[in-house]
Amino acid sequence: MPNDTSASPLRDLADARGFYVGAAVSARPLREDAAYRDLLAREFNMLTCENALKFGPLRPTPDQFAFDNADAIVAFAEAQGMAVRGHTLVWHSQMPEWLEEGVLGYDSSIDLIRSHIQTVTKRYRGRIGVWDVVNEAFEDNGRWRDTFYLRKFGPDYIKMAFHWAHEGDPNAKLFYNDYNADGLNAKSKAIYRMVKRLLGEGVPIHGVGLQVHLLLGHVPSTRAIAANVKRFNRLGLEVHITEMDVRVKTPVSESDLREQAGVYGDIIRICLRAKNCPALVVWGVTDRYSWVPDVFAGYGAPLLFDEQGREKPAAAALRANLQP
Ligand code: G3I
Repeated sequence: MPNDTSASPLRDLADARGFYVGAAVSARPLREDAAYRDLLAREFNMLTCENALKFGPLRPTPDQFAFDNADAIVAFAEAQGMAVRGHTLVWHSQMPEWLEEGVLGYDSSIDLIRSHIQTVTKRYRGRIGVWDVVNEAFEDNGRWRDTFYLRKFGPDYIKMAFHWAHEGDPNAKLFYNDYNADGLNAKSKAIYRMVKRLLGEGVPIHGVGLQVHLLLGHVPSTRAIAANVKRFNRLGLEVHITEMDVRVKTPVSESDLREQAGVYGDIIRICLRAKNCPALVVWGVTDRYSWVPDVFAGYGAPLLFDEQGREKPAAAALRANLQP
């Protein structure tokens, strides 16, 4: 059969339909693990830096930028013809300690954050096409999250960050990104209201990232997720699935893996059927380096490939849905 695509790499199937299947990438395994590199290059046509572009890792001291890891990841993406999502410019976590615990006043903080955002976005102009400008600004109940940024500047920090990122790279697509906002709930409603307001005010925002960190057995209804994607699309915004994983209680059974595959299949179908949801990024390449077991004891195996890099039913589910 000349056109048998049943075993094609995900990226080939995705390329053929103008879709992106991405993975979050860590600098260390990228450097040290050849099997990780091979799998990444074979299966994915997009990547996100899992940690390397965050404020803290990038700025060990006020006068120093540590671009080595991010540069290495972006260079790998370019060599392999993969698109890059930049993650993330403004986030309450992984902040530099010297900034969070420092005593800078309003004006100096503004200067520092503006120049940080502009330096980073300018450096990767034309190479990082999409930025998660602001990450996780809301609590699950829809209130503003109490962060360094909110305390210092009030909610206006959000529009300031988008303007500064736009000045740094006028061609990059700029996203707001959050978790537990996949279906219809207080948080996704707060995000909807915010992005609508920002658009009305002429703020350069182009998309919303739904992280889709899920726990097997507690997945929001596909109908609610599809409706959520649709309402953002109706505002003219692009939606990306930015950090998908589906954690499972360990040890995992065959039936867990089948159920997990069903969830991956549901989510990619929502995107493929939506008006404008062209990317699904999973939060890691293999289960081996996933953040999940470090944070949720007794849970793991959330990704498409297992600890040995072998394909799981979840990868097959994406492949099946990407078939021409
Ligand atoms: O690199 C340092 C190392 O030098 C140090 O010795 C070691 C000791 O703790 O820590 C290492 O840093 C860790 C880093 O991951 C790299 O491995 C941090 O402690 C650890 O907190 C950090 O976790 C990351 C987490 O964000 C930070 O909150 C995870 O890898 C990363 O997957 C996770 O990603 C987030 C997204 O950015 C936003 N959405 C949720 C998602 C999952 O939490």
